[in-house]
Amino acid sequence: MSGPGRIDGRGFAAAQAFVLEAKLFWTTRLYAALRAEYEARAAGAPRPPATARDVADLVADGTLYRTFAWFERHLQRMKYAARYGLQPWHEQDRAALERRLDPAALPEGLLELDPAQGPPDYDTALDIHQHPGGIHTDPIAGFVYERGARTTTPLAGARHRDLHDRLVSFVAENGGAPRRMLDMGCGFGKSTAPFYRGFPESSVVGIDVAAPCLKLAAHDAARAQARNVAFKQRRAETTGFPDASFDLVTSTMLLHEMPPAAIAASFDEAKRVLAPGGRMIHLDFHHLPDPFLRFVHYGHGRRNNEPYMEPFAAMDVVRVLEAKGFRNVRVLPFEEAEGTLAPGYARWRFPWTIVAAER
Ligand SMILES: C[S@@+](CC[C@H](N)C(=O)[O-])C[C@H]1O[C@@H](n2cnc3c(N)ncnc32)[C@H](O)[C@@H]1O
Repeated sequence: MSGPGRIDGRGFAAAQAFVLEAKLFWTTRLYAALRAEYEARAAGAPRPPATARDVADLVADGTLYRTFAWFERHLQRMKYAARYGLQPWHEQDRAALERRLDPAALPEGLLELDPAQGPPDYDTALDIHQHPGGIHTDPIAGFVYERGARTTTPLAGARHRDLHDRLVSFVAENGGAPRRMLDMGCGFGKSTAPFYRGFPESSVVGIDVAAPCLKLAAHDAARAQARNVAFKQRRAETTGFPDASFDLVTSTMLLHEMPPAAIAASFDEAKRVLAPGGRMIHLDFHHLPDPFLRFVHYGHGRRNNEPYMEPFAAMDVVRVLEAKGFRNVRVLPFEEAEGTLAPGYARWRFPWTIVAAER
């Protein structure tokens, strides 16, 4: 018996477009219906729901919530692992993709790999985001992750300015361009590239534990002829950089992927490598002003194989950072696309949040 044959480009594009449209239905119609059901039930409850558990008691056994949860879990599975998923699509060109990542083709100093600084157990214990095999070991995982990241949050209508560019604007407006900066958990460079492009006079370092992603980040930087960036395989908890060697430490979507002890260690490490007066600015998922949002977000963590999403969202980061001696600690909701913080915004969205502090 022969296999199912090569996946054709039109079939792949159609299947991925279907997943995206179905995600849109889930984030708009299904989410709105679930919210309406919750509000109706909360109005009739003996006391107002105060916790995610209270919300679960009202809606978790209902058909609507189960449908909502099924869509979330299985659309993500389809996106990655089904016949027309991202993994099989890239798998068929594995050899060519691996050739594109040859470290020997890179300018000296752009990429530094150190397997001893590879992924901690908490990164490899399960397939985060339902990415088959995870992003840390498979040589082509960076390509799969890059393609997947284009359709994480469906935003219908007008094209939105990317949230990573918006973070660069936030940094520029809150202290200006740094001289030396560190992007912790840089992945395949999506969070780092807007910094090395937006701050051409700054020296930028991106670190991550995933070698496949770092290789892709470095090759993209080489293609862009970026001269002010380097990518290094290092852990956020133990970067190995000298004391006071950066003016800005940043991260995007790193903290919620770490257990609380690793988050605390990364905050300590950021403080150590920051010069006095330096800034730490993380963009992550934290601001959840009502119990319904907490319930949906915690459920997202479970359905998307992100077990540390809930502990991070529940962490009192202001208290933690102040106890570590950081100054001017701020936790601010972040508008990742036009209008998402407007009152009455009715779609499911990640609770984008800035966690900022000074050394
Ligand atoms: C959700 S991705 C975000 C990537 C990138 N910042 C972006 O915005 O596209 C989280 C990244 O953190 C990395 N990571 C997880 N634990 C880490 C650690 N202890 N030290 C450094 N990077 C880590 C993962 O390998 C992954 O690339």
